[in-house]
Amino acid sequence: MRILEGLKKISDENLISFHMPGHKNGRLLSSYFYDYFKYDITEIPGADNLHNPMDMIKETQDAIAKYYDCNKSYIVVNGSTAGIYSAVMAVARPKDKLVISRECHRSVYSALILGGIEAEYIYPDIDEKTGAVNAIDIESVKESFEKFPEAKGLVLTSPTYFGVISPIKKISDYLHSIGKVLIVDEAHGAHLKASELLPDDSISQGADIAIQSFHKTLPALTQSSVLHLNSKRINREKLESLLRMHQTSSPSYLIMASIDAAMNLMADKGEILSENLLNIINEFNENLENHKFVKRMAMKNSVLDPMRIVLVDKENKRVDYHQLEMILRNEYHIQVEYSYEKGIVLIPSIANTREDFLMLSKALDSISFDNLIIASRCDTIEYVKPVKRMSIRDAFYSESEDINIRNSSKRIASEFIIPYPPGVPLLIPGEEIDSSMIHLVLQLNEEGVNILGLLGEIKENIAVIEED
Ligand SMILES: Cc1ncc(COP(=O)(O)O)c(C=O)c1O
Repeated sequence: MRILEGLKKISDENLISFHMPGHKNGRLLSSYFYDYFKYDITEIPGADNLHNPMDMIKETQDAIAKYYDCNKSYIVVNGSTAGIYSAVMAVARPKDKLVISRECHRSVYSALILGGIEAEYIYPDIDEKTGAVNAIDIESVKESFEKFPEAKGLVLTSPTYFGVISPIKKISDYLHSIGKVLIVDEAHGAHLKASELLPDDSISQGADIAIQSFHKTLPALTQSSVLHLNSKRINREKLESLLRMHQTSSPSYLIMASIDAAMNLMADKGEILSENLLNIINEFNENLENHKFVKRMAMKNSVLDPMRIVLVDKENKRVDYHQLEMILRNEYHIQVEYSYEKGIVLIPSIANTREDFLMLSKALDSISFDNLIIASRCDTIEYVKPVKRMSIRDAFYSESEDINIRNSSKRIASEFIIPYPPGVPLLIPGEEIDSSMIHLVLQLNEEGVNILGLLGEIKENIAVIEED
């Protein structure tokens, strides 16, 4: 089957979307954004230029900056990935050091390799019960910068894929007091500005740069992202030059137009639609309270995004969430974002209706969970914290060989191992592989998780640095 045929087949299923992108098959935007082919133009006179905006693109960027209350906002058409590359390389030069939260998305690690930047890691706690990564606490930030005072700044993710929000104000105040910079990967947080009832966005809490994927939580086309700059600590010209470097020279006007449309919608009705969604989610939560098997994830001492729905085991009975995802898709035409060993992630947006949630509640009420209980899970997935042996860039560019992962104990990885989604690397170049990592990767592989970096026909090989 080819792409068009495949897409038609999926589209004919008329799925209820609890996954990205946030426009949910174009709902809400039809009066803001139409005439797709006519709008797919290039930099002809009157169309401005993303790489040197002076006219309509500049005006749109100014409107975005106004909405997000920051100095400058840049449209990024190559996803938050390109924004993250640019931000990281604008803050640190080759051989400089950054402190990175180890649960960062792979784009942060790619930026380290591309920019020849060294990194030290903060390892946030993992909640054993739900498998979710906790917020970054101020104590570990202080500890890191006391140990590595030469580091230029910190990169962290907030909200995470699971909706966990870090204490950005405390962290940015501390970093600024010692002359350092905070970059927040806010790919999952473009919607936070819409209502006072939502947790604070990171720019309002002092982040120097925040990068947001509009397409994840707002109604915008995939790859629509925005980088916000709210700091005099960053060299603006360097940042702009890096944004030009990391983006296509043929930026899609459709993507840019969808960002403009999303912005118009948010300015017109974002608050009311968001509060309406929060009410619908509250009704959904109330209904879920009586569920015997699943509940919404809670996390001690952490702020959670109320719009990110993670369902986890209610009691000690363990639900097979991969099965649950299949049943929701095949029997109820509901597509969730992600299922994993300990839960299921749903990404609603203001484009979801009460009807969508009623269908979801009904499905959860009528599915026979008794058949989904895993009687005895012999092995639960353990979080593994690999030891760093080499710099990420040196490891990536070293001579490497592919070997079966079963034989890779004590070897150093020269490639990433990344389960997708959410795209957080288990192993990065330069880290030593040990038996628990081997066990974990094989376990995930057996569960059918899509793992980037596994090689060979049966996807059991891994690239390691050649031994002398
Ligand atoms: C936390 C996080 N950061 C960055 C990205 C990259 O965003 P994009 O897909 O817009 O390039 C993702 C994508 O999944 C993500 O989850």
